Amino acid sequence: MKGVVLALIAVIIVAAIGIGVWYYVSTPPPKKLLKVGTSPDFPPFEYIDEKGNVVGFDMDLIRALAKKIGYDDIEIITMDFDALIPALKQGKIDVIAAGMTITEKRKEEVDFTIPYWNADQAILVRKASDFRPKSPDELAGRKVGVQTGTTGEYYIVDYENRTGIDIDIKSYSSFVLAVQDLVNGRIDAVIVDTPVASMFEKQYDVVVSAIIKTGEQYGFAVRKGETELLNKLNQALDEFMKSAEWSKLVQKYFGSG
Ligand code: ARG
Repeated sequence: MKGVVLALIAVIIVAAIGIGVWYYVSTPPPKKLLKVGTSPDFPPFEYIDEKGNVVGFDMDLIRALAKKIGYDDIEIITMDFDALIPALKQGKIDVIAAGMTITEKRKEEVDFTIPYWNADQAILVRKASDFRPKSPDELAGRKVGVQTGTTGEYYIVDYENRTGIDIDIKSYSSFVLAVQDLVNGRIDAVIVDTPVASMFEKQYDVVVSAIIKTGEQYGFAVRKGETELLNKLNQALDEFMKSAEWSKLVQKYFGSG
């Protein structure tokens, strides 16, 4: 009788261990995800593809960097451009990857990585019209679309204040909406970063009529004081930009490199 009880206990113990081991190997550990915030209206840096996925140069780049520094993947969280810095500060996202220009003003609120792209501002107009402004003063009395909270908006608002020239500035939550209004004739021009303007030229009946040299540089932004994450991203970015993967990525989204 005693022998039977002992054998039973042994069976139960072995089974319990078996179940434990099985559970352990079959439940993968939670994935370590880097939460990336973006505003997907800025091709080819971030946009929504035909399948509805958020894709682009910035998304591929930040995913590659995240994997290099020990994350399993990224989780993309989309919002309007002007909501990105507040979301970062509130901890809703860990990084901003949104073709964001490194500016002194923004540096008071966030920390930027080393720059990864250069840009200026472009004046984009409708192909079908004969309006071809060569400089911002020719925007006097015109309806000009910008994206809220962008350097394009800051430039034109500042230009207006500086010169006293009256421009009818319309702020949009998304560049795509601004360009659609341009195509439909609701506005006369859009001020947008040069690399994105070139992409819109390919996608819509619009054309760049002038370039305003602003000498901007894009960086990824992290919360102030997240030095460890910043240093890791900087090192990974520096290495990536010197690698063959970088030229491949540039080729994929810009067709040159
Ligand atoms: N480079 C400009 C800025 O920093 C525009 C960025 C807009 N980005 C976007 N994903 N919509 O203000």
